[in-house]
Amino acid sequence: MKKTILVTGGAGFIGNCFCKLILKERPDWKVVNVDCLTYAANPSTIREEMKDPRYVFYREDIRRREGIFEIFKKERPDVVVNFAAESHVDRSIEDPGLFLQTNILGTQVVMDACRAFGVERFHQVGTDEVYGDLPLDRPDLFFHEDTPIRTSSPYSTSKAAADLLALAYHRTYGLPVTVSRCSNNYGPYQFPEKLIPLMIHNATHDKELPVYGKGLNVRDWLYVEDHCRGILAVLEKGKVGEVYNLGGHNEKSNIEIVKIILSELGKPESLIRFVADRKGHDQRYAIDPSKATAELGWAPTTMFCDGIKLTIAWYKENGWWLDECTSGDYLKYYDKMYGNR
Ligand code: NAD
Ligand code: DAU
Repeated sequence: MKKTILVTGGAGFIGNCFCKLILKERPDWKVVNVDCLTYAANPSTIREEMKDPRYVFYREDIRRREGIFEIFKKERPDVVVNFAAESHVDRSIEDPGLFLQTNILGTQVVMDACRAFGVERFHQVGTDEVYGDLPLDRPDLFFHEDTPIRTSSPYSTSKAAADLLALAYHRTYGLPVTVSRCSNNYGPYQFPEKLIPLMIHNATHDKELPVYGKGLNVRDWLYVEDHCRGILAVLEKGKVGEVYNLGGHNEKSNIEIVKIILSELGKPESLIRFVADRKGHDQRYAIDPSKATAELGWAPTTMFCDGIKLTIAWYKENGWWLDECTSGDYLKYYDKMYGNR
């Protein structure tokens, strides 16, 4: 069945993977990518998609109401998936304002356009960070969809506000909204400010690997394509007004991750440097995805041991992509974040 799907943030890590998946597996769908190309978007990421006649790219900011409404008027999307966001916790600690503007007010603009032009679905891509954290000594505890919202960082707070606003637009205006909340993603094309690509990049260049605190914080890792398949399942089988948790029971401490990367790359553990901890650092994330499995038939298909090998191999083969990301402003960012840590 023909559809036009409008994706915001489709030049970023997860949004681009989602566009690739739709172009590959939904041959009748047209993909409209709206992305303003912040520092987190390397234009080379969308090079292949730009050649596809079913793909259209608009460089536009989701905070700019006039521009977003123009695109909706022209493209008349059936389905909208909102990936666009400021996504890095450390940057939100340095400068919260931009996170509130993009993640909350930008989401409002996109939803207002959905109301004005009418859509079958608005899907908000959310994060497990809205549930706060779990203690390290209670491995029996997990995040469920009804776990109270209890955020720690300006980033997670802005994402929680966006989720709640989306659910309010459903209840108040009847906008057909769904929300997914996912755990930490990894895979190709992730900007090297995030743990896994940063450590691969540094280890490859024999640079120190900065581990926050003692490296004991735990994250629940999911291969990016599994996340995207989960979002597609929510779009096609999910119930309007509902929240779905996505995750794969793949908990690992940061120090475990760093040691796996060093071992895969054949680099010494002497490259590890323990540095000052992140402010307000969440201890442990762990998703219970049983609702998505029961209602949508969704389950991850890539085991961490395979996914991490695929990911490292991709960064090795695509060093040019990492080099493009890590020139210019990145060097200033790195120095500011890690210089005196
Ligand atoms: P990313 O930082 O790699 O990409 C974000 C994209 O949004 C970039 O292409 C950027 O240019 C674009 N963007 C930012 N501000 C914009 C604006 N004002 N207007 C238009 N485009 C804008 O992020 P990601 O890791 O791909 O995350 C995508 C979404 O998934 C985010 O909403 C994030 O909160 C959520 N999420 C991420 C993870 C993860 O592990 N990375 C996990 C769960 C949820
Ligand atoms: O849980 C989902 C969230 O996962 C997403 O909503 C966010 O967009 C995404 O950035 C990610 O947030 P984290 O803060 O968990 O990811 P990050 O890669 O920044 O850090 C992962 C862990 O590694 C965290 O405990 C902090 C630690 N870390 C990170 C960096 C960048 C280090 O020890 N050293 C580092 O240099």
